Amino acid sequence: MAHIKDILKSMEYGPAPEANEHVTAWLDAHKGAFGHFIDGKFTDPSANKSFKVTNPADGKTLAHVARGTAADIDHAVTAAARAFKSWSKLSGHERARHLYAIARHIQKRDRFLAVLETMDNGKPIRETRDIDIPLVARHFYHHAGWAELLESEFPGHGPVGVCGQIIPWNFPLLMLAWKIAPALAAGNTVVLKPAEQTPLTALAFAEICREAGLPAGVVNIVTGEGDTGAALVAHEGVAKIAFTGSTDVGRVIRSATAGSGKKLSLELGGKSPFIVFDDADLDGAVEGLVDAIWFNQGEVCCAGSRLLVQEGIAEKLYAKVRARMETLRVGSPLDKSTDIGAVVSAEQLDRITALVETGRKEGAQVFQSSNAVPGTGTFFAPTLMTGVEPSSTVAVVEIFGPVLVAMTFRTPDEAVALANNTRYGLAASIWSENINRSLDVAARIKAGVVWINATNLFDAAAGFGGYRESGFGREGGREGLYEYLVEETGKAKTKAVAKAALLAAPSQAAAVATDGVDRTTKLYVGGKQARPDSGYSYAVTNPSGKQVGLAGLGNRKDIRNAVEAAAKAESWGAATAHNRAQILYYIAENLSARAEEFEARLRMMTGASKRDAADEVAAAIRRTFFYAGFADKHDGAVHSTKSRHVTLAMNEPFGIMGILCPEDAPLLGFVSLVMPALAAGNRVVAVPSSSHPLAATDFYQIVDTSDVPAGVLSIVTGNAPELAKTLADHDEVSALWNFNGVVEAALVDKASTGNLKPVWNGGARDWYAATGQGREFLRRATQIKNIWVPYGE
Ligand code: NAI
Ligand code: MG
Repeated sequence: MAHIKDILKSMEYGPAPEANEHVTAWLDAHKGAFGHFIDGKFTDPSANKSFKVTNPADGKTLAHVARGTAADIDHAVTAAARAFKSWSKLSGHERARHLYAIARHIQKRDRFLAVLETMDNGKPIRETRDIDIPLVARHFYHHAGWAELLESEFPGHGPVGVCGQIIPWNFPLLMLAWKIAPALAAGNTVVLKPAEQTPLTALAFAEICREAGLPAGVVNIVTGEGDTGAALVAHEGVAKIAFTGSTDVGRVIRSATAGSGKKLSLELGGKSPFIVFDDADLDGAVEGLVDAIWFNQGEVCCAGSRLLVQEGIAEKLYAKVRARMETLRVGSPLDKSTDIGAVVSAEQLDRITALVETGRKEGAQVFQSSNAVPGTGTFFAPTLMTGVEPSSTVAVVEIFGPVLVAMTFRTPDEAVALANNTRYGLAASIWSENINRSLDVAARIKAGVVWINATNLFDAAAGFGGYRESGFGREGGREGLYEYLVEETGKAKTKAVAKAALLAAPSQAAAVATDGVDRTTKLYVGGKQARPDSGYSYAVTNPSGKQVGLAGLGNRKDIRNAVEAAAKAESWGAATAHNRAQILYYIAENLSARAEEFEARLRMMTGASKRDAADEVAAAIRRTFFYAGFADKHDGAVHSTKSRHVTLAMNEPFGIMGILCPEDAPLLGFVSLVMPALAAGNRVVAVPSSSHPLAATDFYQIVDTSDVPAGVLSIVTGNAPELAKTLADHDEVSALWNFNGVVEAALVDKASTGNLKPVWNGGARDWYAATGQGREFLRRATQIKNIWVPYGE
């Protein structure tokens, strides 16, 4: 007879399969074939070409699913547009009731959904049952609440319209919930395309929508592959695209939507650091690693895939990790005691296998657990690679499998540098018993989510999303809801000057060489007046065509110099908000003191009446005071997530922002954009109105006398579209606002695809009214980092 002691040591136990008859019965009832769900009905599955959906754990076919064409997308968008008319008019309370009903139905069918998800995706039943499906229900409940509160909590905002949503295969139903729940809560309707590998739970969800009495057309599901997704992205009736998936496809979508005015949120890849300091609880960290990289076969965008460990404890930690890896069971996903299931597809398995081989060739030591891996199906053993260089392929590329790469560091500074040495910025996990150090490192890491002594925690109340090439926009929480809302903007008070400005937009051809007596206003770069690199200036004329001055004709070199100066002024973001407020007050005071000069400048340049010019200057002064007042009040939040955690939603500046100011309201427009960006802690490279730049160039005198550190604000005049392009494609510029009116949205959208910077094409608005100032500007000048801090032992 076996002794308990031996059993505990070997931890052997027999198979514990979860029943799946209800799922096979459901597939049979559908005769293994599914059409799209459009306008509350399933289309005839035989009407379309279809593709096969398989269970990756055994390779067996589960169903055939329709391959969506552009015509299918068009039907779905049309249905969604029709439904939008009534759905968006329902009260928040009525929409909330629909979302509650969906949440309840999900809970009623939780076991069914968990089994179906496991069969379709290959992930362990333990995870679908305990994590995916409960979180799905939680998302609908949470957003039912937001629907209820929408009118009071988001005044001045309305739904966007029809939302196209494209999701990946790693958390099929959970990603659906992350997308559909906020969209519906905010009053939008949706067309969702699930991943080709895992469409089944989305189709089951469609049935739930019907059962729960959701009006037809509010949710439409069109299945298909990449081309179906591309057709959705391209459809003119779609007002917003939300995408989760690879960074490559994210870029394609970014460029396909450029200039279309479609709202866009991208949740892309990652190569997230998992940092272990020498004072960490090592056993806790090892369990953390299991959840970080061996959860969901490592097919997690925020997986802790780069282990950074402090040198002194590295070997000790690796030994513990290897021992723990030996206890991970790889096997049938439907078995309740399986830790690691099947990788989603043969294609993904090949990718993982090839990357591990590359790692080996590049000199890494590869350790894999000796446990058996099933002979059929797409399984991959948990893997640890040590001796990896920061520049190795496996340290740089997202592997998206159960593969951990490890590197060492000596000091916290080195840990931060290594952590940030990636083009991504989705998540990070920090392990240390020293709270001061943990929070310090959390603040310095460029990532949208940071877990302290924890990892892979998710909740509907917390925002989730990336910095840098991990995408932009947040999902979850208050911050996520904004992605599905548009703000109402007033009509521009001043006449649209776009056309006139276009004619006047300076070019090299119209440039005049600066003569000996220099009447040209200069650029302002790095805290100093600077001559334009071109050596040319251009004539600034008043409405009757009379030349009223010369402005420097800036070029790409001037923009680059300004960005370089901004890069050196990093301390601005770290200054206290109180300090920034003081400086903005100083600016406001100095502007007041010179109000008359600015009035005269405006009158001469724009032909404004005395009264209008005085109004504009007065409004600019008030606006500066407004943001000075707000600088230390744009608070973050503590989200109500899981118990025994504080989840801090911190407003962080982007870093360096490019701002293209409007052609109209040459002083007020400039101040209305530059001040909130500075207040939020950004450094700014501003391009003022091309046609009327002189009020902004005069502004350097104010900046010079207001203790603004060098490089924090640079002002480059010239041809706005030309300068815009350089700003947009500059990798060190992290966000761009285009309010210029002459600069095409398509130009800046396209040029900024490289580093995937968020772009706000703000359009014309009334700068004098409430739409010209407020939280919206501060919100757009910040990105939210959610830091999860546990408490208790
Ligand atoms: P993918 O980005 O190609 O697929 C994600 C979704 O986008 C699917 O629904 C797909 O049909 C759709 N899609 C593909 N091409 C499209 C296009 N041109 N226009 C519109 N939609 C399009 O990702 P894939 O090929 O499945 O996986 C490749 C790699 O991407 C993975 O190895 C992993 O590194 C990464 N990935 C990251 C995910 C994340 O959660 N951030 C999720 C899935 C993959
Ligand atoms: Mg693909």
